[in-house]
Amino acid sequence: MRKKIVAGNWKLNNTMDEGIKLASEIENMMKDELRTDVTVVLGTPFIHLSAVGKLTANTDKLNVAAQDCSTHGSGAYTGEISVSMIKSTGANYVIIGHSERREYHHETNAELAIKVDLALKEDLTPIFCCGESLDIRESGKHGAFVSEQLTESLFHLSEAQIKKTVIAYEPIWAIGTGVTASSAQAQEMHKALRSHVANRYGETIADNISILYGGSCKPSNANELFSQPDIDGGLIGGASLKSRDFMDIINSF
Ligand code: PGA
Repeated sequence: MRKKIVAGNWKLNNTMDEGIKLASEIENMMKDELRTDVTVVLGTPFIHLSAVGKLTANTDKLNVAAQDCSTHGSGAYTGEISVSMIKSTGANYVIIGHSERREYHHETNAELAIKVDLALKEDLTPIFCCGESLDIRESGKHGAFVSEQLTESLFHLSEAQIKKTVIAYEPIWAIGTGVTASSAQAQEMHKALRSHVANRYGETIADNISILYGGSCKPSNANELFSQPDIDGGLIGGASLKSRDFMDIINSF
């Protein structure tokens, strides 16, 4: 059985106090309202990892993710945060290769492969993001493009390592735009990604990998998206900043 996961990605939002307030609200709502067997992850800015990690330490339903990590382990890299630093805060996930990192920080598939390796060595679960721009979708090459992102950043992993990895399909044209991929478009891509994993690692491993959808997922469309056979949850940006909306998405399965 593959894991159902709803992960929030706060991006560049929330001061220390605001972040703790939001995480506490979600933790309390989950105690009272959680209806389904779902793993929840809060992808916070680095400053919140330790405090939110402590808040969530008593429940394995609620986890904490960094939004990025360095390609370096330690040394003279001003401003960087390493996987061991992330691990030491109590976080247990890390988002890798978000399209905003790829676009604004020019992260390449080869660099992301290094980050995935480092995360797995530190026993952090990578949430590896892939997805195409509008131009690529309109050219009809989205399937090949996203497959290549997986091949170049993940397919060097061993079977044991890929089993611990989570994939998030996030069409760039749907991120923060209010335009959601239709459930049919999302399902088609998730199915293609799963069969790409199956070609490399076999059906059993592919069947057990969680593939999350991201891109304007909200309470009003989460249920339809999560009902698709190859969609195992969501990576949620804007709607993860409001505890009520986020909780409603969590309960959408
Ligand atoms: P969004 O962001 O839900 O605001 O579209 C998703 C993401 O970038 O992870």
